[in-house]
Amino acid sequence: MKTNSQVQIDPNNLPQHIAIIMDGNGRWAKRRFMPRQIGHRAGMSSLKETVQTCSQLGISVLTVFAFSTENWKRPADEVNYLMKLLVEYIHKELDELHENKVQIHVLGDYSTIPEECKVEIERAIRLTKNNQGLIFNIALNYGSRQEILDATRHIAIDVVEGRLKPEEINDSLFSHRLYTYHVPDPDLLIRTAGEMRISNFLLWQIAYSEIVVTNVLWPDFRKNDLLAAIAEYQKRDRRFGGLSHKQEGSK
Ligand code: FPP
Repeated sequence: MKTNSQVQIDPNNLPQHIAIIMDGNGRWAKRRFMPRQIGHRAGMSSLKETVQTCSQLGISVLTVFAFSTENWKRPADEVNYLMKLLVEYIHKELDELHENKVQIHVLGDYSTIPEECKVEIERAIRLTKNNQGLIFNIALNYGSRQEILDATRHIAIDVVEGRLKPEEINDSLFSHRLYTYHVPDPDLLIRTAGEMRISNFLLWQIAYSEIVVTNVLWPDFRKNDLLAAIAEYQKRDRRFGGLSHKQEGSK
């Protein structure tokens, strides 16, 4: 039986960084015999609620996958609609995000997206850059392999031009050359709509993230679904390749 009671979480064991693959907008619309665009629009409310909840809980970083380098393959109508939605989202939400001290970043090369969209994004980044609340990363025209190649190319140039020695290249240096140089790696990766895939999202950064896949479609994803994912994360025994406390005790 479905209840409305709020999922309980431990406020002392929150993930510092949550990353989300917001999937299922198309299926949500299809089930209602509606165009895919309506699913994306409905997904905007889920995004708004998720940002609010992360902010209220005191989560440090939220990263969402809004548009991938592969999403350009979708019909032009759908791509244009997604870009328009992003402009609308910033238009409607920016004041409130700013009041709540949210700091907005974009991960990915957004130089190739429509001008109107670029202008809004730059306005949002500029306005919120000194905010000290939730760091909200929007992955836009983002692909993780591209990000890794960009970092590698920059490192190679530094080596060739003598600013860096090959032996200085380590985990930390590489992490700081990625688009996510300003945040720690995600503790929790959530994927909605049930697929067991990473879809070229944060491949380097999720090495030790806990992954929660829910069957809930993104437009249906509400505060309680986020709390449920956090509760699931809190049940996990994070070992980072080592032993758990329990295992250590039995040795
Ligand atoms: C995946 O659903 C979702 C996207 C490609 C875009 C995500 C966009 C939003 C949630 C809209 C609001 C976002 C911003 C930043 C304003 P899908 O189309 O792949 O769904 P399907 O797998 O069911 O077809």
